[in-house]
Amino acid sequence: MGGSRGGLAGQLRAQPRASLGLSSLLLGSYLLYCLGGACPPLPGPDGAAGSGTGPEPGLGAEPAGAGSRRLPQAIIVGVKKGGTRALLEFLRAHPAVRALGAEPHFFDRGYERGLRWYRNLMPRTLEGQITMEKTPSYFVTKEAPKRIYNMSRDTKLIVVVRNPVTRAISDYTQTLSKNPTIPSFQALAFKNFSTGLIDTTWSAVRIGIYAKHLDNWLQYFPLSKFLFVSGERLVSDPAGEMGRVQDFLGLKKVVTDKHFYFNETKGFPCLKKPEGSSRPRCLGKSKGRPHPKIHGQVIQRLQEFYRPFNMKFYQMTGQDFGWD
Ligand SMILES: *[C@@H]1O[C@H](CO)[C@@H](O)[C@H](O)[C@H]1NC(C)=O
Ligand SMILES: *[C@@H]1O[C@H](CO)[C@@H](O)[C@H](O)[C@H]1NC(C)=O
Ligand SMILES: *[C@@H]1O[C@H](CO)[C@@H](O)[C@H](O)[C@H]1NC(C)=O
Repeated sequence: MGGSRGGLAGQLRAQPRASLGLSSLLLGSYLLYCLGGACPPLPGPDGAAGSGTGPEPGLGAEPAGAGSRRLPQAIIVGVKKGGTRALLEFLRAHPAVRALGAEPHFFDRGYERGLRWYRNLMPRTLEGQITMEKTPSYFVTKEAPKRIYNMSRDTKLIVVVRNPVTRAISDYTQTLSKNPTIPSFQALAFKNFSTGLIDTTWSAVRIGIYAKHLDNWLQYFPLSKFLFVSGERLVSDPAGEMGRVQDFLGLKKVVTDKHFYFNETKGFPCLKKPEGSSRPRCLGKSKGRPHPKIHGQVIQRLQEFYRPFNMKFYQMTGQDFGWD
């Protein structure tokens, strides 16, 4: 157990930036959701919530070690830059959801550690609560469907998808902010711009070919195990999209329009702060990120490239996401 914690801690140490953002997110969510009333133990990225301290005295307080660690019944499996962090934070406003804050990357990078290690990362849950995690790279990992199926064929799978062109640009923008010396978006997206040949091996392009990745998942799971969430609607109508998510998870509709307000300056929805909290929690673009200039023709060519894959994806899912 000690070793397994060291394992995730090691992973997080290797990504100081992610770890830092994560801690502030965890703390933020804790303050946000706990100051209003009943307070669950803070789920640390090392899964050490309330461990070793024994039951706490106090009126109405849950014992620190209450409940047990379970394998997740639902996983947000994708996609990168689709809005998975927003969805997870919105879900955490629901008292019946307990979610791991960190991305465990178990089914892509850590599978050899075993399911016991994985379960030990999970926050404790009480009867009737759902355990969740999110790791967006699962959706594009060839082995992930088989491995999750082997854990439980009843696992509910949530995929947040977004126009693959804007997703690719957002993905590139994030990489650029960490590494300003990388080539231009155009140079990476095309093998040869004059012939219009797209480089489908570049991950920012490859991730958006949703139909191809979904095909791999459908070898193991029926469509009924999936919920496809529109990343666009999660921003334009968070309460509506959260209604679909709660239905899919078999949860009472607790997270509703009363939980959200729209920050016009930011252009993104925010979760309302509970009574007594010091500040609200808004979601959306990281501020101050340099925005690359991308030629309209580049965007148009990519849009054309994706169109047949999008059509296939609409057909497979029975949902028109309105990207074309
Ligand atoms: C499937 O899961 C079991 C444990 O439930 C494990 O022993 C086995 O190695 C797994 N198989 C594969 C192919 O992952
Ligand atoms: C791009 O394609 C054009 C037209 O076929 C060709 O003339 C040019 O050499 C190619 N450039 C590269 C870098 O391959
Ligand atoms: C809206 O967002 C702006 C920019 O991020 C922020 O400065 C402001 O405090 C926010 N207002 C509310 C009411 O959340």
